[in-house]
This record gives sequence, structure tokens and C-alpha cells, in this order.
Amino acid sequence: MNKLDTALVTAALKEAGFGLTESVKEADVVLINTCSVREHAEQRVLSHLGHLKHIKKSRPDLVVGVIGCMAQRLGDRLLEDNTVDIVCGPAQLPELTQLVTKALQERKKSPAVTEKIRQRTAEEHSQALEEFESVYGIENRQIPGQAFVRAMRGCNNFCTYCVVPYVRGREVSRPPEAIVEQIRKLAHHGIKQVTLLGQRVNAYKYKHSDTVWSLADLLGAASDVEGIEWLRFVTSYPSEEFFDEILQVMAASPKVCNYLHMPAQNGSDKILRAMNRHYSSGWYLELLDRARAAVPDIAIAGDFIIGFPGETDEDFEATVQLAKHARYKNAFIFKYSPRPGTTADNRLQDTVPAEVKQRRNTELLAVQEEISDELSRAFLGKEVKVLVEGLSKKSQVNMEAGRNPQLVGRTAGDWIVVFNGPESLAGRFTEVRISNSSPFTLFGELT
Ligand code: 5AD
Ligand code: SF4
Repeated sequence: MNKLDTALVTAALKEAGFGLTESVKEADVVLINTCSVREHAEQRVLSHLGHLKHIKKSRPDLVVGVIGCMAQRLGDRLLEDNTVDIVCGPAQLPELTQLVTKALQERKKSPAVTEKIRQRTAEEHSQALEEFESVYGIENRQIPGQAFVRAMRGCNNFCTYCVVPYVRGREVSRPPEAIVEQIRKLAHHGIKQVTLLGQRVNAYKYKHSDTVWSLADLLGAASDVEGIEWLRFVTSYPSEEFFDEILQVMAASPKVCNYLHMPAQNGSDKILRAMNRHYSSGWYLELLDRARAAVPDIAIAGDFIIGFPGETDEDFEATVQLAKHARYKNAFIFKYSPRPGTTADNRLQDTVPAEVKQRRNTELLAVQEEISDELSRAFLGKEVKVLVEGLSKKSQVNMEAGRNPQLVGRTAGDWIVVFNGPESLAGRFTEVRISNSSPFTLFGELT
């Protein structure tokens, strides 16, 4: 979501005549797009702001803006120490160009959060965002050949640990025609892979007089767009609604990647209840069985939160068991981070000590690594289709003259593949024979 917002904002500012620079030294304006999902992400922003405060001592004209979820969460509190000039939440991004221009002209503090939210109706916001998205969402290309397209904004689930519904607001599904039209334009610009985004993207629902569009319908319509070869969607919430329909489209359409990111978050039913996740670990595992029955080679990924308030060793053991049964391709593991304003933070003490969280994190990661290692070994000797992203991290630091650099790409199942090849392959599909593997990366040669 943040990457998409950054792309939209960049496109809007470019159209207004601004140029992009990676260096603070050259910049007249510095914008920090922020995430509030864990405290650590916010602390990094505060540390950047500390650095900018120092720079502003010698360059008082530098305009600093904080945009995104942290702007929404903290509002004009961010203006207090005279470093930040612009505070702009996710729903006000369409106004950002104006705010930047005003700040440059008038050097006035511009909080585009809180008061304005109260003044405007949600519908007006929605319209402004929809327009912003449609106009500027047709050329985002942070990775060549790939684009994110928002299917829906916000979240209604209110998992007790999560700040998202507070900062991104309630769920709004975008009109299917607008989404498909955007995908068509992206295809026209050479985009080959589109990832549909939503906090609970499988809850996508758009009413058209007497018909309802689901994510399955949307994937079907997007599959008809010429030029688009791969379609993905993240993130799915474990839910019965549309589940079979979505899997059917995945099984039937060669364009819909056989990949599902569907976090369980925890394996203990007691903790799942306390998290306000509406399922048990047993039911969740049955859902995975159904997915694997419908789409036999499906790659499934998950997220876990460990150290939620009240999590005992027994609860944690249930999570380890779930990981062993789920056999994810990979899983992102997060230590519980109390977020101000959430139900968990209001009602529960962050009781699990930091060292216990760390120990559980390491243990769960080791379990996942073993599973990922087994699954990645199964690729040895096989040929896989890869959408090339570009130079790998290693080749960016250590480019050898005269040799093909190291590239990185992903398979339809989201496996990361590293191989040597010409940089001109970025944004294109190629075939790679896998000759080596590590738990989370495949290595191979161009065939
Ligand atoms: N603490 C730790 N992890 C969190 N996530 C969301 N909120 C929190 C929190 N308060 C994790 C969930 C989610 C991912 C994006 O971030 O696992 O799926
Ligand atoms: Fe947060 Fe839960 Fe919504 Fe995901 S489903 S964004 S974890 S509230």
C-alpha cells in the first residue's frame, strides 16, 4: 500500500513540475511516507526527522512533510518541534501537491489531517481518492513491468492489535470498471504483472444495481486485458466468503498466479479470539486443504504475530504446530507491538517479555526455514518461468565488467530466483533452470 501511495504521489508531483531526487542535499522538499503498523517503523521515521531537524538549522527553507499512516495517527502533534511543515494522512494525498506548493510559497505549517477529516464527508474523500488513483495510477513502475492497483481501501475487521482501520478508515471497494480501465492503461504502458491490493482483498465487493462483483469477478475481468500476463492479489483474510470462487478463477485462468498470502497470525484459538480473528486454527488449516485441493501447485504464505498479551508457552506451541501443518512457502514473523488506540493496547498489558518474544521468534523462524528449505529443494533441476525484476542486491554493489550481472526475479508462486543474465531482461519473462537453493531463494541459470 505504501509503495503504491509513494508512486501515486510521485506521479502527481511530477505532473505539477517537481523533479525527483534521492538526495536530501539537493532537495527543496523532503516527504516521508510512513507506516504505523509496528512501533519500530515509527521510530525509524522519528530518527529521520531528528536528522532533518539538524539539517534545517542551516537550511531553514527546507520543506519537510510526513505523509501516510503516521501522519494520520499523530496529526498536528508532528508539527510541534518545528521540523515538519506538512502532515498529510492517506485520505488527503490528493491534496498533497497543493500543500507542498503552499508550503514552498508561504512557509506555513500545513496539517492536512484531523480538522479537514471532520469537515469532509467520507464520500467526498472517496471521490477525490478515486480520481487521484485513476489519473496517477497508470504509470507506477518502481519495478519494471509491474504495477500495484488498489482494489479496496481501508479495513473493517478491527483485529485488536491492528492500527490499520484507524488510520486507513473503513472498507471501500473501488468500482470494477475503474480498476479494469486502469489495468488496461497499465498494459498499454508495458505492464505485465498487476498486483491487486487490499487489506482484506478477498472481501472486495462492489454492488452494481442487482449484481455484486467479487474479487473472483474482478480477476476474471482483469484476465481479459490483453498484455497482462500475471495477476496477483494481496492480502487475503481467512474467510469463507468468495473463497471457492476465487480459487476457481485461480485454477481456471493461466494469468492468475497460483499464490495465496493468507495470514493465520497465531495458532492458539485463545489468542485468535483475543485478536478478534474470526476462526480457529483447525478451521484455518481446513481452508488451506481446500485451497490445495482446488489448485494443487498453489504456493501459500502467511504472517504470524508472536508474543500477543497472554501468550503462554502452550499457546506458542500451538503456533509452531500450525506452522508445521500449514507448510507455508514462507511466513513473515512479527513480535507483537502495542499500537496506541487499539483495543489490545487499551485493554491488555504487553505481558510477554522482550527476551521471550525474541526466543519464540527465533524458534518459529527455524521451523519455517526447515519447511521452506524442503519446499525450495523440490525445485532443483526444474525449469521455472520468472518475471525479472532487475539487478540483484549483490550485483548492485559488485558489478563485474564484461560478465552478465546477477539478476533477481520471481516465479508465479512468488519464489525469489537469482541468476546471471543481461540487465535488459528487467521487466520481461524468462526461463531459469534451478541448480541450487536456500530456504527463501532459488539459484539457477538462464536456459
Ligand atoms: N504488532 C505486530 N505485528 C503486527 N501486524 C499488524 N499489527 C501488528 C502489531 N500491532 C502484522 C500482522 C499483519 C502484518 C502486515 O503486520 O501480521 O499481517
Ligand atoms: Fe489489520 Fe486485521 Fe484489517 Fe488485517 S484484517 S488490516 S490485521 S485489522
